[in-house]
Amino acid sequence: MSDEAIDRDISRIMRKVAADPNDEAMCEPLVDLIIEGGVHKLHSTANCLQAAEILSNRHPLPAIRHVLLRVSIAGEQPPYDIYTGVKLFRRFLSGHPREVYRNTAYLMRLLSEDLIERAHAQHFVPCDSERFALAAKDFWRRCAEASCSAAPHVLLRSNFELKAILLPESSIRGEIVFMRVLQMQDVTFAAALGMAKAANRWIRFSEASSALTYIDFLERTSSHFAAPLRLLLRGLGTGDWRALRDFIEYPSAIQSPHPGELSMSLKQIERYLTHKRWQSRDSATVELCKQKLERAAKNLEAWTKAHTAIALHFNGRGLPGTDWMEEQTLAGTALFQRQDAELDHYSDTQ
Ligand code: HEM
Repeated sequence: MSDEAIDRDISRIMRKVAADPNDEAMCEPLVDLIIEGGVHKLHSTANCLQAAEILSNRHPLPAIRHVLLRVSIAGEQPPYDIYTGVKLFRRFLSGHPREVYRNTAYLMRLLSEDLIERAHAQHFVPCDSERFALAAKDFWRRCAEASCSAAPHVLLRSNFELKAILLPESSIRGEIVFMRVLQMQDVTFAAALGMAKAANRWIRFSEASSALTYIDFLERTSSHFAAPLRLLLRGLGTGDWRALRDFIEYPSAIQSPHPGELSMSLKQIERYLTHKRWQSRDSATVELCKQKLERAAKNLEAWTKAHTAIALHFNGRGLPGTDWMEEQTLAGTALFQRQDAELDHYSDTQ
């Protein structure tokens, strides 16, 4: 379809969205066009202005607001949180840690189902189809088990909500995998960070058993940290990444507050747990907190190492960002070799 025809299409859709900014069905064709051609294609057109006008004069539903916000700044690379759009799912991250854990697993299950369906529909072709299918199946199974396969208390308002945050900047197909993996990771990190902050509060008030409840689900959530990177490795080709990189130079995940704050929050919990003010009756609970915290910290470290290996795999050496990270650690590769063996063993026993 020519750019002019796409422009006409979008202008027609925009008029409908302006007429009823709460009708997701009206906005869906716009999202489909963006998933196909990328947001960057809309830059400096009347559509950006129309989107900005609807945003300033009407009160669209949050998911539609997110789409219009991206259209209104088309041509400018968005900051990380607007690029991923995961803020839309903040309501999944409040409440008892058991519910947050289930909600997060439920959301990850939906995001992985969406990726599996898009691979089947050839919206993108995984660089290693066989291993992508295995990794996706394994990931889906983990999320289904963690969400107890039952719908949690917090649900999606509509399927459109999940689709509305899949707004690639480019038309490069691999960006679909990259975006979904970023969203999975950021939701999981945000959930873990919320649990760590709550545990810190309970510890400062010497409430060992309440702290343990949060640290327990923090550890369980952390066990899901590295898995999405496997989908990235098996789904996104280095060619697509190299073509895509220039479109998303600005929204680097270094802007994500979650992993960095989580790492600091874990160190703070560890520091407080060693304080001598605990009552003797709390000693067994405090010991359990320490053990679970150590495992959560190990899972975050494993993610950091795997992420370094991913950055080296996709960027190679010699780029400032990757060199900066490689100086921090190079063990990630070992992690993948170990997980490959695990996955091969798993597929042999299924
Ligand atoms: C193609 C895949 C990826 C590549 C090549 C990559 C590369 C990089 C690089 C080079 C940096 C250093 C900062 C910079 O120069 O921007 C970085 C930082 C970071 N990336 Fe990635 N990344 C990838 C995927 C991901 C994913 C899926 C996440 C998940 C949220 C992620 C999270 C982060 C975080 C949190 C930082 C900051 C690290 C820190 O503070 O030490 N990255 N990444």
